[in-house]
Amino acid sequence: MTQQPAPARSYSTGILSNDAPHERDRLESIQRSVDTFTTNILDALPIQTSWSCLELGAGAGSIAYWLTDRCPDGRVVAVDLDTRHLDAGRATNLQIQEADITREDYTPGTFDLIHARYLFCHLPGRDELVARAAGWLSPGGWLVIEEPYDLPAATSPYPLIQRILTAYQHTYRQNGADMTWARSLPGLLARNALTEVAYAANLGRMGGLEKDRWRPLIHQAAPTLLARGLITDTDLTEFDELLKDPAFIDIPQMTISAWGRRPSDTPKPVTLRDNLAHHA
Ligand SMILES: C[S@@+](CC[C@H](N)C(=O)[O-])C[C@H]1O[C@@H](n2cnc3c(N)ncnc32)[C@H](O)[C@@H]1O
Repeated sequence: MTQQPAPARSYSTGILSNDAPHERDRLESIQRSVDTFTTNILDALPIQTSWSCLELGAGAGSIAYWLTDRCPDGRVVAVDLDTRHLDAGRATNLQIQEADITREDYTPGTFDLIHARYLFCHLPGRDELVARAAGWLSPGGWLVIEEPYDLPAATSPYPLIQRILTAYQHTYRQNGADMTWARSLPGLLARNALTEVAYAANLGRMGGLEKDRWRPLIHQAAPTLLARGLITDTDLTEFDELLKDPAFIDIPQMTISAWGRRPSDTPKPVTLRDNLAHHA
């Protein structure tokens, strides 16, 4: 009998609770800051209009919706612990599923593309889930996983940011997240018999007057960081001031994206529409 992994923890309790008041803002700020990087990676895959896709930890849905446009003759299953930020009416080929992915299973060989972003770092048994997801791929299917890699807080050139990021990273770790696991992704995909393994990184940006991703992240965590005495109200006020300074720019984190392909057993039939779309 296989042992069931412990239930997902980070998102049911603590600073990343789905009930946090600014969760929607946080999800949207993530989408704004990395969707272009993600869709560039997905666009480089040989996506066919008939593909069956699985979006793990779909959040506010931007990548699931993008895939419904790319695969109008196929389908996209968007799964999340909490589906309140997903719009089931967005596309007819979209299926929304509320489930804990650590306890979910799919028929082996079902999906042409499985994508996840900023999910595995929060999960218990993350290596095992990569192995299970590889098994859900159809022959020739692709697994694309994108995860954060925190740069050491102490190397920030800004003492205030050193303090805030030290507190933030420590609290994420206490919450069960591994924000350096992303480095193991390419090897993990290869060990799970995926081929054509490749990877890329996107350096994050804090400040520089960007439509900031980090303000929602830090402010969502702030009540916990303050309650634990890890930062002060003055730190938070100074952080907000610093974000208004065009000369303030830091690199707190990068995103490592890695992908690999299940070898094809037999060539998958290509539909006429796929061919037309491919040559358009
Ligand atoms: C940081 S958000 C990222 C959302 C989206 N992937 C993105 O990058 O825009 C992580 C998402 O994973 C979901 N999640 C966390 N643990 C999960 C689990 N065990 N099963 C399914 N979804 C989970 C959360 O509810 C949340 O929507």
